[in-house]
Amino acid sequence: MTKDEILLASQEYLFPAVFHYYQEPLLIARAKDQFVYDADGRAYLDFFGGILTVSVGHCNDKVNAQVHRQVDTLQHVSIVFVTEPQAALAKKIASLTPGGRLTKSFFTNSGTEANETAILAARCYTGSTEIVALRHSYHGRSAMAMGLTGQGSWRMPGAPQPGIVHAHNAYCYRCPFGLTYPACEVRCARDVEELIRSSTSGRVAGFIGEPIQGVGGFITPPKEYFAIVAGIVRDHGGIFISDEVQTAWGRTGGKWFGIEQYGVVPDVMTSAKGLGNGFPIGLTVATPEVADSLQGLTISTFGGNPVATTAAKAVLDLIDAENLLTNAAETGAHLRGRLEELRHKHAVIGDVRGMGLMQALELVEDRQTKAPAPAAAAELMEAARRNGLLVGKGGMYGNCIRISPPLNVSKSDVDEFARRLDRSLVECVNGRKPLVKPASAAGRRPAKHRSKPAS
Ligand SMILES: Cc1ncc(COP(=O)(O)O)c(C=O)c1O
Repeated sequence: MTKDEILLASQEYLFPAVFHYYQEPLLIARAKDQFVYDADGRAYLDFFGGILTVSVGHCNDKVNAQVHRQVDTLQHVSIVFVTEPQAALAKKIASLTPGGRLTKSFFTNSGTEANETAILAARCYTGSTEIVALRHSYHGRSAMAMGLTGQGSWRMPGAPQPGIVHAHNAYCYRCPFGLTYPACEVRCARDVEELIRSSTSGRVAGFIGEPIQGVGGFITPPKEYFAIVAGIVRDHGGIFISDEVQTAWGRTGGKWFGIEQYGVVPDVMTSAKGLGNGFPIGLTVATPEVADSLQGLTISTFGGNPVATTAAKAVLDLIDAENLLTNAAETGAHLRGRLEELRHKHAVIGDVRGMGLMQALELVEDRQTKAPAPAAAAELMEAARRNGLLVGKGGMYGNCIRISPPLNVSKSDVDEFARRLDRSLVECVNGRKPLVKPASAAGRRPAKHRSKPAS
């Protein structure tokens, strides 16, 4: 097919709900390591990794060598048979989970399915149906996962889900209580107590949260936040589910899972994306007690697929062998330093946040009012594309730039990224915006804005 035929067929034969970045969709033809190439052969430095999914570089030689072998050995038999790749992956994951407590895995094909399984397990384990989720969260595209999601643009009408309440999130840049950390004493976490008492029966099945809210724009809670929330939820009979679809496998630097940065041992974790480096896989991993409570028959035809689980095991082995948790911490710190430099230079950058190789910029019209700048974010995406750089967009206001290169990226890649991003900022936003002094007061609410789908 020619380039035009591909673009036309995509427009004509896909659901219109399938949306693309950029005014003109970018047609990607191939990729290798940290670069992707468009249909005209133009290279782009990929600092988004297919939404935090390409964890060890595109078409990684070591991962793909094992995948090729597996494709020629055994491709599919379904979950009703035992296979070595699935068993080996489950064993490896059990050895990595926080406190060694989560040792039972259930494999599916996506983060959405992983979260469906987690919520079902919480409900079976506790006998309650009530769930606490967070505002600004994203948990997937099934009816239930949309019900968990805390962003209106990602909740299609017609799929109401009873039994889910949404707590305020720890959005320090725009504190929902108008407070400032640490003087706030993490009021948002303590408010979960009142939410449970006022908006549920008082006995809940559990809490689900992302250690760093991904689609929400890498909103990063303060270090005490999840321990306080976990204590409250457990006091009310619930279990703690960490949605690690974006934050797992070393992404946040130095630890395998994002929730470990907060010193909390969850009862269940879910993952997908970076586990397979692009091969479809979903994971729900739980303590034996929670896993055992899921009684009755359940299957996932493709869950535990030999090719996907071989890829995932190869990814985890590679992260281990190449010490990528350390690289994510060290190169992540370097990346953060470069982003802080850009914040000092460009007034449109209101906030820099994240951990490890999961960093975001929140763009604002004005640092005093913190009015979100979705148009600047859209312009910056276009300019970055022109400069051969891919980054992601996010945030409930569509004004966050998400940066998530592969975990094996180097400091010189980061320097090249920073040069291209700087150039893009100069081209698109700095020209029409003078540099202002950083605002000292945190917690102002955003001014009126158009809400727009983010990512
Ligand atoms: C935190 C989180 N949970 C769940 C999902 C859903 O995953 P999937 O798109 O694989 O269904 C996503 C997807 O972006 C996510 O970011």
